Amino acid sequence: MDKAPLSPRRVRDSTVEVTHLVMPNEANVYGTVFGGIVMQQIDIAASIAAMRHARRPVVTASIDSLDFRRPIRVGQAMILRAAVNWAGRTSMEVGVQVLSEDLMTGVRETTNAAYLTFVAVDERGRPSPVPPLQPETDEERRRFSEAVERRRQRLERLRREPG
Ligand SMILES: CC(C)(COP(=O)(O)OP(=O)(O)OC[C@H]1O[C@@H](n2cnc3c(N)ncnc32)[C@H](O)[C@@H]1OP(=O)(O)O)[C@@H](O)C(=O)NCCC(=O)NCCS
Repeated sequence: MDKAPLSPRRVRDSTVEVTHLVMPNEANVYGTVFGGIVMQQIDIAASIAAMRHARRPVVTASIDSLDFRRPIRVGQAMILRAAVNWAGRTSMEVGVQVLSEDLMTGVRETTNAAYLTFVAVDERGRPSPVPPLQPETDEERRRFSEAVERRRQRLERLRREPG
């Protein structure tokens, strides 16, 4: 493996925005999207951001708690915005914001937010180094430092609850 230090990458180099039209086969009997579909879309959008940052295959190591604050209805667009908040040696935290959009009115509402941790892996599935993240804006620096604290809490929880 190449041991040269990896060049830092900016947040904007890996951000993702996905727009998904919610179809009837993705909905419950009330006409709102299944939570599992939202979770899958979150995992996919976040993994694309992580792979854009790492330029390597990644696996999902952790998904923080997920609250469904508002429903998304059949025929509405589900918009997912994903960005790398923090990068460590081999892991990255990706934040995902989910919005609904009423395509007739253009009204958008935030429905979910989630934080996921991905680990870049080599061909044998072993953790592999990722480039450092270079936050550029005050918002990106705030997200970075909040991600450091969430990671501390995650690792503390893992130590308390070994799998
Ligand atoms: C993720 C995985 C590769 C980590 O392997 P590991 O041998 O535990 O790796 P390490 O202990 O060296 O940790 C590697 C990095 O991941 C981080 N990490 C590992 N598990 C984590 C977790 N549950 N939450 C947050 N970070 C985690 C470590 O802190 C470390 O970060 P750093 O390199 O940036 O400092 C391994 O646990 C795995 O393959 N899990 C299954 C992944 C999978 O199949 N996902 C699909 C969903 S089921």
